[in-house]
Amino acid sequence: MQHGRVTLANRIASGVLRALFLTTIAGCSRAGGAAPGSAVSQAASSSSESSPGARCDAQAGLASLDAAKASLAQTYAKRFKVGVAINGRVYGDGDPAAAALVAAQFNRVTAENELKWQSLERQPGVLDFSQADAFLAYAEQHGMEVHGHTLVWHHQVPAWVFQNDSGGPATRQQLLARLEQHMSALAEHFGSRVRYWDVVNEAFNDDGSLRDTPWRAIIGDDYLDQAFLLAGKHFPDAKLVYNDYSMEKPAKRDAAVRLVQGFKERGVRIDAIGTQAHFQLTTPTLEAIDASLAAFAGAGVEVLVSELDVDVLPAAYENQGADLSVNAELSAQLNPYPECLPNDVAEQAAQRWADIFEVFSRHSEHVHSVTLWGVSDGYSWLNNWPVRGRTNYAQLYDRQLRPKRSWQRVIEVAGQTL
Ligand code: XIL
Repeated sequence: MQHGRVTLANRIASGVLRALFLTTIAGCSRAGGAAPGSAVSQAASSSSESSPGARCDAQAGLASLDAAKASLAQTYAKRFKVGVAINGRVYGDGDPAAAALVAAQFNRVTAENELKWQSLERQPGVLDFSQADAFLAYAEQHGMEVHGHTLVWHHQVPAWVFQNDSGGPATRQQLLARLEQHMSALAEHFGSRVRYWDVVNEAFNDDGSLRDTPWRAIIGDDYLDQAFLLAGKHFPDAKLVYNDYSMEKPAKRDAAVRLVQGFKERGVRIDAIGTQAHFQLTTPTLEAIDASLAAFAGAGVEVLVSELDVDVLPAAYENQGADLSVNAELSAQLNPYPECLPNDVAEQAAQRWADIFEVFSRHSEHVHSVTLWGVSDGYSWLNNWPVRGRTNYAQLYDRQLRPKRSWQRVIEVAGQTL
């Protein structure tokens, strides 16, 4: 496996300064995956004939089953909801075909960026709900459950949140007061329309230790308790979620379980664990996925598979996960399928998707929902992370929104595991 040169942003700064830097990075990548019609999308949609030597057929990875004849949500209705992350390019006047596809195939939606702090309150006390309202209107028009993402995170949060009036670090009291004001404004605006909230996102390192973030540095190690207590106060009708990636790594999985146990001992409400599930073709193993779902169910909370995708490209850095602060340079080696996906890889991906849904189905008693992070290959953030401008094939629909073989296998495996 080739590895690109990796820039680890967290090596160059710490504490509040680091947060400012990461916020800038996240802001730059806000556009996320390539939309249909973008340069990346057009490159990928051209046929293999136009590219001498390409070992692929743009049609080969497609489903033979008509998508109008089966929906993911209906197929899995007795087990869990099937959701998808959407952004403002999908609903409204953005992409009517994608909006129709989402309404037909899914019964749950997460706002990919629109409910993050940076989108809602860029300036202190100035709340802009325009993007969030468009998202909610679309979701409610189609009767889809709404997932709120996310209240406390170290990315996509404006710098002022962590600063005092003179630009130095805020105090614990200031930051807690800001968090409460933010939650209170959201609660007043949204009421109980947001059914699940990611209260804290990505608080642990892969070894299970607490991540060094401005939230932790300023408030202290009890910041998770404080965040969930405040969320419980302001969102009494919503389910409260702890969300993280690489939750199949035993140390991180166990840290999440200990978090739930500690909350229960201290009377802090938590209702669910969200496991992001940014997967690759062969990692994590099905056994590890199975073990983490079992551990979360055993902790007595609901489980949400919250950000599922299957990255089919070479690993750009060793420690696969979803750390937004990691990035590598674009190279041909890291972007091997700019035209279309070779048949054998398409088949491997289809099998992987089926295997993963089989594991989820085994735990359906505790799994509330499985949410895909992006409507199609074109909308996936993995076209731009951890390398900008790659052509990834990480979802169940292709760049023209046609159902892929992977989609068909996910539908078919439901029948086999009933
Ligand atoms: C990503 C979005 O998909 C991108 O559009 C944005 O530029 C950066 O954030 N884990 C999370 C999500 O919890 O919020 C991230 O979403 C992907 C990783």
